[in-house]
Amino acid sequence: IPVDPFDLVVIGATGDLAQRKILPGLYRRHLAGQMPPEARILGAARSDLTEAAFRAMVADALAAHVDAAKQHPAEIAAFLKRIGYVAIDVSGAAGWGALKAALRPDVVRAFYFSVAPGLFGELAERLHEHGLATPQTRIVVEKPFGRDLASARALNATLAAHFAEHQIYRIDHYLGKETVQNLMAVRFANILFEPLWNAQYIDHVQITVAEAVGVGGRGAYYDKSGAMRDMVQNHMLQLLCLIAMEPPWHFDPDAVRDEKLKVIRALQPVPAPDIVRGQYVARDPAPGGAGYLHDAGNPASRTESYIALKVHVANWRWTGTPFYLRTGKRLRARTSEIAITFKEPPHSIFDDARGWRENVLVIRLQPNEGINLKVMIKEPGPGGMRLVQVPLDMSFATALGEDGTDIPDAYERLIMDVIRGNQTLFMRGDEVEAAWAWTDPIIAAWEARGDRPQPYDAGSSGPEDALMLMHRDGRRWREIR
Ligand code: BG6
Repeated sequence: IPVDPFDLVVIGATGDLAQRKILPGLYRRHLAGQMPPEARILGAARSDLTEAAFRAMVADALAAHVDAAKQHPAEIAAFLKRIGYVAIDVSGAAGWGALKAALRPDVVRAFYFSVAPGLFGELAERLHEHGLATPQTRIVVEKPFGRDLASARALNATLAAHFAEHQIYRIDHYLGKETVQNLMAVRFANILFEPLWNAQYIDHVQITVAEAVGVGGRGAYYDKSGAMRDMVQNHMLQLLCLIAMEPPWHFDPDAVRDEKLKVIRALQPVPAPDIVRGQYVARDPAPGGAGYLHDAGNPASRTESYIALKVHVANWRWTGTPFYLRTGKRLRARTSEIAITFKEPPHSIFDDARGWRENVLVIRLQPNEGINLKVMIKEPGPGGMRLVQVPLDMSFATALGEDGTDIPDAYERLIMDVIRGNQTLFMRGDEVEAAWAWTDPIIAAWEARGDRPQPYDAGSSGPEDALMLMHRDGRRWREIR
């Protein structure tokens, strides 16, 4: 279904995110027929480029970042016709008049802030000062949204001085992932799971976001951030919220975000023994590159490229069920999943306990999106009642055919939601602040102690102590593969 006509201004259009994700994503939406003929995309950045030069740049970005099967020359040409370019100076006055003149008054207007986070507040001010912010205007703000509670509050206050909350779209691209949204469908469109979805029946939850890549060219940014700020405060907490939240009364932006906020507020402080931080080291010869200290360009760095935490949600539903979170760079494989391990049945009527395992519901976010429920059955054959665990395995690709493989990228879905004016998959200001309010004391405590992250081998499953974090509770992490 096509969205309403729009002018989307991508500020920072020559940057990495715009070239890798935003512009290719917009092309895919164009190809899917979701853009009405009147939809236009304006690149804006500091470089003094002609429109033709910018279009050539976009053509290169599409060639590099869109599947070959989707590169149709006629469609690419039609897409490029939608594109314009204006050079602007975010900190000065240049270009804003031209940008204003290029925009139409009667269509949806959105500005995507794909710039350094230090410029978010200034950009909002400029838009206002130069009369570009109409009541219909939406702004899309990338992460990181602040680096602690104080900076997030200050940024919220600056944005709020120029835009109403319903105009502000704070992106967490994890919320745009297909399976992440599916979490809500699985929970709230089936009767099967919800009655068991609590501490009485769930032993624990594991959330893993493992990456095979290192911090590579982003070392300078990453070293000031670390896994806690880069992944846990936003993506991992959002996943936790979707699992832990109460059913919203309706699939409505504020109803969903109210429930997520309650979960974040119920998070307990995490004591030192429940946190493991790591830093990857590369043994020579390193097949995938150098170690973290080299990648970060900081031989004295104490920033973590891995973190595992045991988290408690202190409310009626979850007290007694820990959530184990882990994320890291240069791990064995790229895999993101949520695994919900149920408790043992209260009584076993079978003598054969050998093959017995708990039920586990695994939601695979990437790669190979799907859902896997491990159940016990009788091992076939005449050998008596022997139990064996088997997967009820549903990959989107097999269950949905073509539709299951052609999953839109998180960014393209979220940008279309901005145009539609749907904030369900965007973070509200109070949510971001609550997430920092939980994160800040955890970071402050390890900084005050002067903790050093533990080394782990690049290509491994992370530091040894992370295994212990679960072993000591009589549990184990699922394998990263
Ligand atoms: C980003 C982080 O938000 O998410 C990166 O800044 C990380 O460090 C990325 O690599 C992971 O996203 P995805 O979609 O590849 O899992």
